[in-house]
Amino acid sequence: RVQQWAVSFGKEIAALSARYSGAKLLQKKYKDVEGVVTIEEVNGEELVKRFAEEMEEMLGRKMKSVKRLAEAAEDADLYHEYNETMEFDYFNALLINTVDEDGNAVPLGGEFPLEGNEHFNKLPVNTQMSNIQVPTNVYNRPDILNGAYMSEALNEVFIDNFQKDPTLTWQYFGSSTGFFRLYPIQWIPDENGVVTFDCRNRNYIQAATSPKDVVIVVDVSGSMKGLRLTIAKHTINTILDTLGENDFVNIIAYSDYVRYVEPCFKGTLVQADLDNREHFKLLVEELHVKGEGKVKNAMKESFKILNEVLGQGSLCNQAIMLITDGAMEDFQEVFEEFNWPERRVRVFTYLIGREMTFADNVKWIACNNKYYTHVSTLADVQENVMEYLHVLSRPMVINHDHDIIWTEAYMDSVQLFNTQAQSLLLMTSVAMPVFSKKKETLSHGILLGVVGTDVALRELMRLAPRYKVN
Ligand SMILES: *[C@@H]1O[C@H](CO)[C@@H](O)[C@H](O)[C@H]1NC(C)=O
Repeated sequence: RVQQWAVSFGKEIAALSARYSGAKLLQKKYKDVEGVVTIEEVNGEELVKRFAEEMEEMLGRKMKSVKRLAEAAEDADLYHEYNETMEFDYFNALLINTVDEDGNAVPLGGEFPLEGNEHFNKLPVNTQMSNIQVPTNVYNRPDILNGAYMSEALNEVFIDNFQKDPTLTWQYFGSSTGFFRLYPIQWIPDENGVVTFDCRNRNYIQAATSPKDVVIVVDVSGSMKGLRLTIAKHTINTILDTLGENDFVNIIAYSDYVRYVEPCFKGTLVQADLDNREHFKLLVEELHVKGEGKVKNAMKESFKILNEVLGQGSLCNQAIMLITDGAMEDFQEVFEEFNWPERRVRVFTYLIGREMTFADNVKWIACNNKYYTHVSTLADVQENVMEYLHVLSRPMVINHDHDIIWTEAYMDSVQLFNTQAQSLLLMTSVAMPVFSKKKETLSHGILLGVVGTDVALRELMRLAPRYKVN
């Protein structure tokens, strides 16, 4: 798979270079130097093949490092006994080198000499240690403290990996409990709302699930007005954030009738790449409520799409996300027709609001498909949406399917938070899921998180220099 990816990447670069070099310009220049130069034929295919091999070698090294991290994390968890009353001072990324009025290091701060490092875009870092980012809403929970303590074991591997492959950049462990251990230590100015940063939102969450087909069904009937609609929209956006370019998605809104938020995508699923996700978010923002909620037709439509794309999109992970404050219609027959007896499509229900006037039917769906969460405030959304990823990743967890994944390119977040950032840097992530190996959890499978490393696309470009492909 790496080779395939590298070949297509190499070809893309070749095509781009050809476009930009301007064949005419070359012709003219050639006239000036005719007689002085000789021309040597270059076999383009050979060249691309060689780039591909070099990329494969380079990425292979990264994969080895990531595998070492995954093994270390699984062992660390295996030998760690959970301690509900644990106290543990980890180093918090936002407090590194922060002092109080008396000049003493603040709790969780620590003192670390930082040095500008070429490998980290000249950012000041300390390569002796990693530190931890924790979103405020899960600050100092026992599971975070236990995870932070347990994952200290990774420090050694981070350093060792970096020594073995100095081209490595950021290495991380993103825990499914919500903390993020990042190597090396760096200084992050807290001015861009980093405190609310939740590593589980980042795209390497793709590492934790296989590709999926998702239809989001949202109730826009009259009762969904005000805060309910706001929570519903936030839930949709949060779900969209968990999807990547390996996933396929569509969004259906229903009241008296069923409509696609993007009519051009009627009856099908589209790739959940960044463009489509952003496009959906804009359309969702425009949703208004009106009329009565006729959920039956909306569910029927969703099952139909998923049936149609079967074998076309992502093979076996299909889900419908139903977001509503209660269903007035009984729609058992829809399930009978489309989803029984295999229950191939998983239906996740997000029930919005505090009081549940018409919730019985929705509860029925939940009971018959098992997945049901109650979302009454905006703050609930994140945790509830994360739950579905755990369900979808379960088969993979049980099979201990350690698939290496490559995420789509994204901006280096550390760069984004750094005011001195000279240029935006595109990165891709090489990541791998980490599972619990404890005997008592082996049978139902527990996903501990994801380990990975970032690779700058610039590194890859360096292997296929422009002048060679012109
Ligand atoms: C749990 O952690 C607390 C605080 O760090 C410690 O006092 C206690 O001995 C630990 N319990 C076990 C069973 O290790």
